[in-house]
Amino acid sequence: MMRKPIIAGNWKMNKSYSEAMTFTREVNQKIPSEDVMDTVICAPAIFLKGMEERAEDTPLQMGAQTMHFENSGAFTGEISPKSLADIGISFVIIGHSERREMFNETDETVNKKMHAAFREDLTPIMCCGETLNQKEEGFTEKVVSEQVTKGFNGLSKEQAKRAIVAYEPIWAIGTGRTSSPEDANKTCGLIRQVIEQLYDNETAQSVRIQYGGSVKPENISSLMEKEHIDGALVGGASLQADSFLAIIEGAK
Ligand code: G3P
Repeated sequence: MMRKPIIAGNWKMNKSYSEAMTFTREVNQKIPSEDVMDTVICAPAIFLKGMEERAEDTPLQMGAQTMHFENSGAFTGEISPKSLADIGISFVIIGHSERREMFNETDETVNKKMHAAFREDLTPIMCCGETLNQKEEGFTEKVVSEQVTKGFNGLSKEQAKRAIVAYEPIWAIGTGRTSSPEDANKTCGLIRQVIEQLYDNETAQSVRIQYGGSVKPENISSLMEKEHIDGALVGGASLQADSFLAIIEGAK
């Protein structure tokens, strides 16, 4: 099955509002049509509306980096799924390892957010991945299978098909140490197997799986060549228009 590639930038807590607007203007005109691949920038929430307005009528799409699972209530500082959908946001990263490590996100909250995303017609990019310790002790498969199984809990087959999973080994994030394409493909293949066990082969073949962790213009092609890697979730290298565009080019 041909899955449409998806390159998403995760800016984390970087850039100013005006830098974000300049980036959007620069990148807008140069990215391929949505028929070829999905291109997304997951920016700090306060930039999203301005970016979305500047990218209107272009294939560049916007995503949030997190959200709450409720649509309203006494949750100081949080952002609701409904408000994201309301300003035209299409994607949302759920359960990034930095959120799991620093902001107490668990597989249970990740699962609630997956359901919340689908309720508002947002496409979730659900992150999973092992720490260096877990890798060295041979627990990669166990950790990743559990994160995927719990994250997808209760999703319908149709929802599961639309979900995106980002495999981000924690030891590869921001370290310059990329997983080898072979290892990344192996774990992405395992994720597909887990989804097949939870649903069926058709569903597993539909889910798009990204690799994330020190993706750069120099290594994107060798990752994208692999059977189970359908795209990338890019941190540092998505911050500059040139390198983001070079990654998109290399992913074609
Ligand atoms: O979500 C993307 C991220 O965690 C990877 O970051 O800087 O290693 O590409 P980076």
